[in-house]
Amino acid sequence: MSDIQREQWGSRIGLILAVAGNAVGLGNFLRFPVQAASNGGGAFMIPYFIAFLLLGIPLMWIEWAIGRHGGKYGHSSAPGMFHVLWNHPVAKYIGAIGMVISTSILVYYTYIESWTLGYSIFSMIGLYWDVGSFKEMTNFLASYQGLTKTAHFSSLWPAYLLMVLTFVINFYVLWRGLSAGIEKLAKIAMPLLFIFAVILVVRVFTIDVPDPSHPENNVWAGLNYIWNPDFSLLSDAKVWLAAAGQIFFTLSVGMGTIHAYASYLRPKNDIALSGLTTAVTNESAEVILGGSIAIPAAVAFFGIPMTQAIASGGAFDLGFVSMPLIFTKIPMGQFFGALWFLLLFFAGITSSVAMAQPIIAFLKDEFGFTHRRATIVLGVLVLLLVQPVVLFFGHGFLNEMDYWAGTFGLVVFALLETIIFAWVFGIDNAWNEITSGADIKVPVIFKHIIKYITPAYLIIILAYWTITEAIPTLLLENAAAEDIPYLWGARLLMLGIFVVFILLVRKAFGKASIHTVSSAGE
Ligand code: PHE
Repeated sequence: MSDIQREQWGSRIGLILAVAGNAVGLGNFLRFPVQAASNGGGAFMIPYFIAFLLLGIPLMWIEWAIGRHGGKYGHSSAPGMFHVLWNHPVAKYIGAIGMVISTSILVYYTYIESWTLGYSIFSMIGLYWDVGSFKEMTNFLASYQGLTKTAHFSSLWPAYLLMVLTFVINFYVLWRGLSAGIEKLAKIAMPLLFIFAVILVVRVFTIDVPDPSHPENNVWAGLNYIWNPDFSLLSDAKVWLAAAGQIFFTLSVGMGTIHAYASYLRPKNDIALSGLTTAVTNESAEVILGGSIAIPAAVAFFGIPMTQAIASGGAFDLGFVSMPLIFTKIPMGQFFGALWFLLLFFAGITSSVAMAQPIIAFLKDEFGFTHRRATIVLGVLVLLLVQPVVLFFGHGFLNEMDYWAGTFGLVVFALLETIIFAWVFGIDNAWNEITSGADIKVPVIFKHIIKYITPAYLIIILAYWTITEAIPTLLLENAAAEDIPYLWGARLLMLGIFVVFILLVRKAFGKASIHTVSSAGE
């Protein structure tokens, strides 16, 4: 396909909002506070910022650069992008790994996103206002997920229909295309998201002491809880792993979505400043806003021991159990509840459309599909794939996919792309690519970081994982016996996606028409 048909961003601010929307997601408001609270509080911020500097920022630049470079050759997905960096038969298959990761995350992430849409409606209509205890609210969530029955939900249908609705909204945006769909969504959703988050932070900071008989439970204790440094945890490698994992997830690096967005730039457009801006925007949203809502509010209302228990129950309990309970206890709670879940919905949808984009682009660029056809094909595919995620949620199906795609996969893909870019394509070419058209002067130290430190850091992470977790995780040693078939099912499903993409890549690249010659500037 020629360059003429390639889509383009409408404006620079639109592009930056879209990439920031890609990065700012459920991870910022749900995953981050739980990770910080359970991994040493303020001390967590040390490995977190180190990972941001040595992995996050370098990978952002690497991915923007690979993306813009691939775009010059008409490729908006990783197989073609890697192929033009490294003219070796295996390169394109490594790119396929990125597509497996984004397809897998897209499927389960959008399901969670649909809960936020549902809960924003439940907040507006006050559906859970008669639920008074932590246990009942946990049951409310479980019944919504189809795991049990309550007076509110006796079947999975509401969750199912909301899931379908959420996919329809996502695919409507994608159908409209890059500029009229994704970019427009980001221009509306991102400012709203920030406004909602600021309102919620102000509301949380004015909670003061909800229960006068427990003056020790207040938001300052909550802030103290999340930020109080426990330095003894810094010697625990797990904390460093958790910090690196959070950086990957929150910045959306390690799968191909940043590449896809950057591929629609022109060769001379800046990527250095844009990449940095989006990374910093994401971090502000995460550390300042994400850290100031759910945890401080939980401490003020439930105290530290209870908040600890909530955080150890994971990101869902914090967002979908503790927050709704708090809303039932404050004035105008329905309004604030709707705001919280709409905030999560906006954060989620600007990320989920990003995960779909590389796949749609792959079908268009490498198979010549029309935009509409590619969107429909992917829409049908993900609707099929999400079925077991919804139906077997209680058996850990979603968690298993999240582990392999959202935690492990990102690190593997990031390592492979760093090696291909900095070592095979070559660090001098790589550095030229990053700095060409740059609106800032990128410190030269990053050239060395990208060449040595980033890959070494990633190798250490993977080596540590292999030593400590590989065997028990692979053998599912800690899983309940009745869940094991489902967890294997989740693995087989992802393996199936991988095989399909391998075959598609082989088919596409078997054709003589594959682009290895830049068509830019024609
Ligand atoms: N960064 C998103 C979040 O914080 C999640 C995401 C991961 C989006 C990978 C796209 C790709 O929620």
